[in-house]
Amino acid sequence: MPKHMLHISLFFLLLTASTGVWMRLYTVSNSVHIIPYDHLLHGHSHAAILGWTFLAMLIIFFKLSWDELDNMQQEAKLLILSTGILTFIMFIAFLVEGYALYSIILSTVHILIEYWAIIFILRFLKKKPSIPFASRLFMKGAFLTLFISSLGPWSLGVIASQQLQKSDLFDMAIYFYLHFQYNGWLTLMLIGMFIYALSKKGIQIQKNIVIYSFWTYTISLFPGYFLSILWYDFGKIGIILGMIGAFGQLISVMLLCYTFFKNKITIQFHFSNRNHSLLKIVFILFFCKSILELFLLYSPLANLIYETRNLVIGYLHLVLLGFITLFIFALYQMETLIDDTKLFVNVGILIFLIGFGINEIILFLSGLSQLILDKPILFQNHLLTIASGLLTFGILFIWCSLFTRQKKIVSTTNKNP
Ligand code: HEM
Repeated sequence: MPKHMLHISLFFLLLTASTGVWMRLYTVSNSVHIIPYDHLLHGHSHAAILGWTFLAMLIIFFKLSWDELDNMQQEAKLLILSTGILTFIMFIAFLVEGYALYSIILSTVHILIEYWAIIFILRFLKKKPSIPFASRLFMKGAFLTLFISSLGPWSLGVIASQQLQKSDLFDMAIYFYLHFQYNGWLTLMLIGMFIYALSKKGIQIQKNIVIYSFWTYTISLFPGYFLSILWYDFGKIGIILGMIGAFGQLISVMLLCYTFFKNKITIQFHFSNRNHSLLKIVFILFFCKSILELFLLYSPLANLIYETRNLVIGYLHLVLLGFITLFIFALYQMETLIDDTKLFVNVGILIFLIGFGINEIILFLSGLSQLILDKPILFQNHLLTIASGLLTFGILFIWCSLFTRQKKIVSTTNKNP
C-alpha cells in the first residue's frame, strides 16, 4: 500500500494537535489571538474527525486487504486523495470564515465521500467471503451508523434555515452526529478490523460471544443516544432509554474485554509486547468510558456535567484521543504501518501517553473543582498547554519514525512466524 496514504493521515493528526495547542495558548497569551476562537475550534474538530479518524479507518482497512483489492486499488487511492484534499481545504475554510457558506458546502461534500467509502467497502466485502463473519458484522454495523450519523449534519442545515441555531434542537443534532460517529462508526469499525487483523494471523476468537456482544452493543446504541441529551428533560422515559443504552453497552464492552483478555497469550505471541500493552490500555479505556456513562443516568449530575466544559472536553478526549486514537495506533502497529521496533515510535507513544494522562487528569480535576468549589485549579491553563505540547511532540516522533530506518531495540519484540 502506498506510504503517502499514511503520511496524509498523520498530517491530519498533527494538524489536530497543533490547533489544540493553539487553542490552549489562547488562555495564556494574547499574542496568539489571530483568528476567532470558534473558527479554530471548528477547524480542530473537523480535521480530527473528518481528517484523522476517517482516513485512519480507510487506511487500516486498505492495508488489511490491499493485495485482494486488485482492480479496486486505483479507486482506493482516489478515495484517500480526495478526502485529504477536500478536508484540508475545509479546514482552511473553517479557520477563515468559521461555520459559514464554504465550510458548510465542503463538509456536505465530505458526507458524499463517506457514502462513496461505504459503497466501496461493501462492494469489496461482497466479493470476499473469506473475511470472518464477526468482522463483517461489525463493519456493516459501522457503515449503518456512519450513514445514520450523517443525518445529523443534514438536519443542521434544516434547523439553521429555520433560524434555530441557538435552540436545544441544534445541540441535539450535534450530539446525535457525535454519538453515532464515535460510539457507532468508529468503535464498530475498529473492532471489526481488529477481528480481521487477528484472523489474518490465524487467531480465532470466541465467535458466539463476539456476535452476542455486537447485537447487544448495536441495539443499545440507539437508546444510548439519550445519554448524550439527558440535559434536556425527557422525563422518566428518557432515563429508562438512557439506562437501557448504558447497561447494554456496558455488558457488550465487558464481553469484548473478556474475549480480548482470554486471548491475550495468543495475541502476545503473534504481536509485540508493546503492541499488546497498548491494546490492554485501549480495552481498559473502553471499559472506563462505559462506566463513566453510568454517572449520566443521575439527571441532576448529568445537568451539572454538561454545563462544566472541562468535564465534557475531558470525556470527549478520553474517548476520541484515548480509546479511538490509541486503538488506531495499536492497529497501525499490528499491520506494521508504524514499526514498533523503532525507537521513534516507542518514544513517541510514551510521550503521547504522558500528555494524554496529564490532559485527562487536569481536565477532570479542574472540572470537579469548578463544580464543587466553584474555582479553577492552580496553573490549569499552563498545565493543559504543556499536555497539548507533549501530545503534539509524541505525534511528531511517531511521524518521524516513517523517515528513519528500522532499528531493533529489544530482541523479543517481533515474534511473528
Ligand atoms: C492531539 C491532541 C489534541 C489536543 C491538544 C486537543 C485539544 C483540544 C482543545 C484545546 C479543545 C477546545 C477545548 C475548549 O474549548 O474548552 C478541543 C475540543 C475538541 N476536540 Fe480536541 N484535541 C486533541 C485531539 C483531538 C482528537 C484526536 C479529536 C477527535 C478525533 C478531537 C476532537 C475534539 C472535539 C470534538 C472538540 C470539541 C469541539 C466543540 O466543542 O465544538 N480532539 N480539543
